[in-house]
Amino acid sequence: MPEMLVNGRKFEPYLTVSQIDEQIKRLGAQINMDYKDKRPLFIAILNGSFMFASDLFKELTIDAEICFIKLASYKGTRSTGHVITSIGLDESLKDRHVIIIEDIVDTGKTLSEFLPQLKDQQPASLKIAALLHKPDALVHPLKLDYIGFSVPNKFLLGFGLDYDGLGRNLKEIYKLVGEE
Ligand code: IMP
Ligand code: MG
Repeated sequence: MPEMLVNGRKFEPYLTVSQIDEQIKRLGAQINMDYKDKRPLFIAILNGSFMFASDLFKELTIDAEICFIKLASYKGTRSTGHVITSIGLDESLKDRHVIIIEDIVDTGKTLSEFLPQLKDQQPASLKIAALLHKPDALVHPLKLDYIGFSVPNKFLLGFGLDYDGLGRNLKEIYKLVGEE
């Protein structure tokens, strides 16, 4: 995996296909044990999580459902800042075992603002699976239940993650060069 240029920025290889695969298999096996007979409902957050969601879902041997949503954030009319809304969540979460699938948790802002809306629907349980987690960047308290990799606070690209729209197609995960 050589260095590559995306949108004029240089990225270097960080996680290989087999490293990613190994962690997703581990998470899948863990979820198979934890959710046997619970028929969990996975909620994958687009766009970034589509590859992770697909690979993780293929590892499941238990009954499970999945849906895909998009989070949109817009400025509220009051000074309280922006509001997060979800598009595509048609299923009722009441009494369901719900697992959020996220590509990467950075500051935790997105999920910490969105989770209360899900909790309002009174799911039986609510957990988070994130392929990547930047512990040093987390500013909004969030408990992550299934984590593929804890990574340094560097910009990552590939396997669904984009830089300005590009790079989602990469099979490996790359790290921005420089910016120490
Ligand atoms: P948070 O609200 O700060 O946790 O941001 C989470 C979202 O920001 C993720 O779902 C990604 O879409 C995006 N993001 C955060 N870090 C990166 C990165 O290193 N590369 C690409 N996207 C990122
Ligand atoms: Mg995302």
